[in-house]
Amino acid sequence: MKDKNSSIDTKKAIVILSRATALVALFFIVIVGIFISSLFYSGKTVFNALAVIKETPTSSIPGVAKLSQIANVIIPEDHSWKAPDESTIPSGKEGDQIKYGKELIAHTAKYLGPKGTVLHMSNGMNCQNCHNEGGTKSFGFNYSAVKSTYPQFKARSNSIVSITGRINGCFQRSLNGVTLDTTSKEMRAMVAYMKWLGKDVAKGVKPKNSGIMKLPFLDRAADPLKGKAVFVKNCVSCHGKNGEGLIAPSGVEYIYPALWGKNSYNDGAGLYRITNFAGFVKNNMPFGVNYQHPILSDDESWDVAAFVNSQPRPHKDQSKDWKDISKKNIDFPFGPYVDQFSEKRHKYGPYQLIVKAQKNAK
Ligand code: HEC
Ligand code: HEC
Repeated sequence: MKDKNSSIDTKKAIVILSRATALVALFFIVIVGIFISSLFYSGKTVFNALAVIKETPTSSIPGVAKLSQIANVIIPEDHSWKAPDESTIPSGKEGDQIKYGKELIAHTAKYLGPKGTVLHMSNGMNCQNCHNEGGTKSFGFNYSAVKSTYPQFKARSNSIVSITGRINGCFQRSLNGVTLDTTSKEMRAMVAYMKWLGKDVAKGVKPKNSGIMKLPFLDRAADPLKGKAVFVKNCVSCHGKNGEGLIAPSGVEYIYPALWGKNSYNDGAGLYRITNFAGFVKNNMPFGVNYQHPILSDDESWDVAAFVNSQPRPHKDQSKDWKDISKKNIDFPFGPYVDQFSEKRHKYGPYQLIVKAQKNAK
């Protein structure tokens, strides 16, 4: 009797033990499964994690590109452009010119704004307001590709544009001003600075972290009303309730630049196109964020772009632009177009069908 009982007990113990083992194994499988799927389905997490890894020069992770494909996020192949160290600016006249160029980019208004010491030719903004960190920030409209890709053909003007021509484009549009004499000390200094920044970039190469990271299209129109809520929550504290910005007590330069109104960029500026605005804001605003640690979602970035670019701002006569209308950017908000979509549709999207129509037109 006793023996039989104990053999039953042993069997029971074995059954319980194996069930427990199976449960523990199952538990582990589930945990590992959740972990892996969270990695794959949260594109942002993967992106941030990998971007950080890729920025570390010592590690090269095989399979990163594959992971990025699976996670369906765009991970640029190369974040490698970094501005040369300032301590390497040559001494003497050449170096002084580069340093003056940098100063002009960072504090344009001090020299060329409404109260500028050299000329009064622009609206009080600084180039750096958009070309962040003196034009050196990853995906913050940096100048890494200027030396290597200019002069270049521009569809807007239907002509070859030089560096000075491009700088004057921003003076006339982004700074709602007039052109600067291309032989002036100031123009030559800005060009010298940009050339120094891009001195190690080979001719024709556009570093992947130049310009901005364009966001994937929404499958709806960007919504100014939703954008207003984003603005109130994330932007008002610095840029003001009416987007008016905050001028320094000296009245010379802005602490926080205006986002609309008479002191802002005009409707011919690059930032007036919402793909540019959304891509810039996502990775650079609220001030302090970068592409590795954005705060706004893609939706919020598109919507706030739609809101800000629906507010009043200076107008630029663009009747002489776009000789070839088939080359207009999809988000260029002024017709005529080669496709049948309205100005409103071009301004706010959705863009998928516009892209398709333009492809078919070619
Ligand atoms: C309101 C924002 C804004 C301000 C201020 C601004 N820019 Fe720009 N700039 C842009 C945008 C947007 C682009 C890119 C547009 C595009 O994609 O074609 C650009 C492009 C450029 C480029 C070409 C870069 C390249 O890689 O092709 C140069 C050079 C430039 N700006 C110089 C300047 C200078 C110099 C100033 C100051 C006098 C200035 N910008 C002020 C928004 C601005
Ligand atoms: C903590 C303050 C702060 C907050 C919050 C902030 N910004 Fe900015 N923003 C700045 C500063 C400062 C600059 C100029 C950067 C420079 O000169 O280095 C700037 C520049 C800009 C520019 C380019 C220059 C211009 O005036 O057109 C845009 C566009 C912009 N911000 C949009 C936004 C949006 C949209 C939000 C909200 C999502 C936002 N910012 C939140 C401080 C802020």
